[in-house]
Amino acid sequence: MAKAKKLSAEEQAALDKVRGIETGQVAGDPPPRGSLWSRRDFLGRLNWMGFGAFSTLFLLGFVRSAFPRVLFKPPTTFKAGFPDEYTVGEVSERFKKEQRVWIVRETDGFYALFAKCTHLGCTPRWLKVEDKFKCPCHGSGFRKTGINFEGPAPRPLERYRMTLNEEGQLVVDMGVTYRYEKGDWDKPGAFLRA
Ligand code: FES
Repeated sequence: MAKAKKLSAEEQAALDKVRGIETGQVAGDPPPRGSLWSRRDFLGRLNWMGFGAFSTLFLLGFVRSAFPRVLFKPPTTFKAGFPDEYTVGEVSERFKKEQRVWIVRETDGFYALFAKCTHLGCTPRWLKVEDKFKCPCHGSGFRKTGINFEGPAPRPLERYRMTLNEEGQLVVDMGVTYRYEKGDWDKPGAFLRA
């Protein structure tokens, strides 16, 4: 068998040039699709995309941590004005609609009643002439003090804490309730001496 002739450097270069023309590849061009180089390129791009996605998620997490979720609860206290704005012996309905609270002034002080029937939660009405609270739902009746005396209500109305602030204004705290049947009405906040 005839031995292959070794090509000179010039012949080899000419042969490479012809092969390049046949495949359409010119020296310095990237290799054709599907070659080992393009697969590497694809994997490299994939890595960068993964890194980009991770960075974006990290950034979003960071931004979100700067704005933590906060539940805004309405305040439990409200100012109810000055003591001399109330008439002795009267039930004030000034805050009934807005806060569901009656403020009662007696000769020696104040108390705040939660306007919620202790039967099923309806809002009773203050009947000045009859000097009582009357629930329109099932007929429960309560004295001006809040004590139940007729109908199905099982216990008295609840009272809210009343205090005076540094300006001398009445403050009602609906976050603190006092229940008669538990002996709470003897506690200072259940009746404000003023
Ligand atoms: S809810 Fe008041 S009497 Fe029933």
